Amino acid sequence: MNYKIWISPPHMGGNEMKYIQEAFDSNWIAPAGPHLDLFESELCAYTGSMHTVALSSGTAALHLALAVSGVEKGDIVLCQSLTFAASANPILYLGATPVFIDSEPQTWNICPDTLEQAITQLLKSGKKPKALICVHLYGMPCQLKEVADICDQYGIVLIEDAAEAMGSTYQGQHLGTFGKVGVASFNGNKIITTSAGGALFTHNKNDAQKARFLASQAKDPAPHFQHSEMGYNYRMSNICAAIGLGQLEVLNERVARRRRNFECYLNAFQTIPGLSFQEETEGMFSNRWLSTFLFDHEKSKLTVDQIRSHLAENGIEARQVWKPMHLQPFYKDAPYFGGNVAASVFKNGICFPSGSTLTDEQIGAISENILTFAKM
Ligand SMILES: Cc1ncc(COP(=O)(O)O)c(C=O)c1O
Repeated sequence: MNYKIWISPPHMGGNEMKYIQEAFDSNWIAPAGPHLDLFESELCAYTGSMHTVALSSGTAALHLALAVSGVEKGDIVLCQSLTFAASANPILYLGATPVFIDSEPQTWNICPDTLEQAITQLLKSGKKPKALICVHLYGMPCQLKEVADICDQYGIVLIEDAAEAMGSTYQGQHLGTFGKVGVASFNGNKIITTSAGGALFTHNKNDAQKARFLASQAKDPAPHFQHSEMGYNYRMSNICAAIGLGQLEVLNERVARRRRNFECYLNAFQTIPGLSFQEETEGMFSNRWLSTFLFDHEKSKLTVDQIRSHLAENGIEARQVWKPMHLQPFYKDAPYFGGNVAASVFKNGICFPSGSTLTDEQIGAISENILTFAKM
């Protein structure tokens, strides 16, 4: 399908080509170089993370986040169920076992109460979880204080999947910098992009060193190629980092525009009965990466799939909310704790076009299109 309006297209800031040209001129066409170093230090300056390791993808960053957290074969890793598969798959890369947890209805992220119940039950059966992957879905912070307190109390490593949340904060601090390790994605659909790419954030120097080592084929410090453990080829290219430098300059503008998109939809949808959305409470600031709404099926008499197909016929890309991991055929045998919150967000939730190139007028036209179809 070739849409006229995509859900979240890349949006260049203007200086990307200049930095790419510099990289070409200096012949740093490699997964090393001055732009990569600068991108990492600029990411530290922006997020407040003590260390940043720029990587080939957010998925690679999650894999290394688990590895530096000491996750090994047979360990249990708790994970928010309502997310993209890339949050969970790296657990399996390490031979660990994922245990999925339901969401709470306010942020749609991991439910602290269910999390604690799951930990208590697992402990009773002699299974202590090693780590937890919480997700800041569509840029919305999870209930971080409650989640972090539970992890502290039970000695569980907190890993933040902030792939969708660059520019979002909690109590004024950037997401991805609360856990032992945090992860960002710069995939083409994200709020800023390096075409493909990711980053690992940590305040711990040893963890950063270990992640860099594993990401560069685990080469021992020897004059020949020697390896004492298995490594990966996960470093970001200097060319991608050059794009990232240009993108980072405009991140705050992108956040402002995406938040504005959300407000425009919200104003237009006032008449829709039973509409709901992810809510920011005290201290939460979302980048509103994707403008996402829940339609009350009973009241609006419309399924999200009908809305999505109707928009597709008009050249507008919209997407249903992520299908929770515990409902995925691939994870059908994985343990799950919780009720139907994630399942109902999936059933009734839809993401509308949210790119930072959209204008108020375009959002007005998209909303009008939806309202006319829904006869509301
Ligand atoms: C929640 C979440 N986690 C992880 C990822 C993986 O990031 P990447 O595509 O950069 O590998 C993504 C996005 O693709 C995501 O949305």
